[in-house]
Amino acid sequence: MALAGKNILLGISGGIAAYKTPLLVRQLVQAGAQVQTVLTRSALEFVTPTTLAALSGRPPRLETFDIEAESAMGHIELARWADALLIAPATAHTLARLAMGLADDLLTTLALATPASLFVAPAMNQQMWAHPSVQRNLTQLIDAGCRVIGPESGEQACGDVGEGRMSEPEAIVRSLIESFAPQRLAGRRVVITAGPTREAIDPVRYISNHSSGKQGYAIAAAARDAGAEVVLISGPTALAKPPGMEFVAVESARDMLAASQAAAPGSDVFIGVAAVADYRPAQQHDRKIKREKTGDMRIDMQMNPDIIHSVARSDRRPQVVVGFAAETNDALQHARDKRVRKGLDLIVVNDVSLPGIGFNSNDNAATIISAHEEVVLHKQSKDALARALISAIADLLDSQLAPTNPESAPQ
Ligand code: PMT
Repeated sequence: MALAGKNILLGISGGIAAYKTPLLVRQLVQAGAQVQTVLTRSALEFVTPTTLAALSGRPPRLETFDIEAESAMGHIELARWADALLIAPATAHTLARLAMGLADDLLTTLALATPASLFVAPAMNQQMWAHPSVQRNLTQLIDAGCRVIGPESGEQACGDVGEGRMSEPEAIVRSLIESFAPQRLAGRRVVITAGPTREAIDPVRYISNHSSGKQGYAIAAAARDAGAEVVLISGPTALAKPPGMEFVAVESARDMLAASQAAAPGSDVFIGVAAVADYRPAQQHDRKIKREKTGDMRIDMQMNPDIIHSVARSDRRPQVVVGFAAETNDALQHARDKRVRKGLDLIVVNDVSLPGIGFNSNDNAATIISAHEEVVLHKQSKDALARALISAIADLLDSQLAPTNPESAPQ
């Protein structure tokens, strides 16, 4: 009964994913919440008021000026009643109306009138989801404090495959429950590196790796959602800059080192998720190297600085320093050694030789290794793994078990 005593206004807008809302209502009620559904006109095409009334125990609200409903509880009173306004599914059109601050039906009027937190679970075709206007509206809503749940990737009702499926009711309820828990990193500053680095050979060529940035960006979002002030230092990725945090774009390992050394002092947590190139070409040519008529070419490589080691050894070391280890064999043993060698409190080891996890996939599986224990995180979405890691870091901060001067030695 994690939502016992909570009043949830569930806004339903008109998309095919609305067929999942009876199950969502049922799960909210099972978690102890009082649920009042509010439907847009087009939601009526996908779900019936009778079903929602039976499951929530309250007739759905449809119109702003419904005299009968208003005399029972006026819309302003309803806005004040809510502990959370959850809109699921949130269509592209509803997101746009929310971002613009329109009040052209009961749902958008309630969104303006309620002091409660706003949650949206978007659902739409993958092409629509990727549209810059939708992403701009979403960024605007997040900047105004709205929490976004999902969407997920997969097969869509229209036959397309991609991002835009509404999260499952269970995941939506879990996010809501987590939001009522205290923000465990409130007042903390967290610096995160993500993505690959690019090491230039000449103006048109570089050496890099397969990191997409997905895991690092998910961790940055989870830290932000836990109330932290976040600085995300990112190598080049195809991902959109996550809202609600400071974003520093870098290219090479040396750029990332400079940005990390500028951001880390005074912060509470440093998390190195980036796949930093260990070596760079010893010589970077100013002009494009021309193809010779015959013969091979060799590139001499020079060692890059170890960013996380330098942060962990610095005078103003963050209280908790967390590294990742991308391994392909003897993963646990290599990671245990790496944790000590680099002076880390935690290391998160993922076996990047396994299919479906690690580089570029949407899922990951890992083991969090500390000086005291090893916690296995089975295969799950990178978002879920990010939340689990942030919770482990919050535990460490709370317990104040983080060693202030962990054993460390040069790489
Ligand atoms: O970006 P994705 O596609 O989502 O993939 C996620 C990931 C596989 C990249 C991520 O989960 C991961 O494993 N990141 C660490 C990759 C890596 O470089 O591992 P490593 O074992 O080589 O490095 C160990 C640690 O030292 C890391 O925290 C790394 O950021 C850091 N390091 C490494 C080299 C270096 N010169 N400076 C560093 O700070």
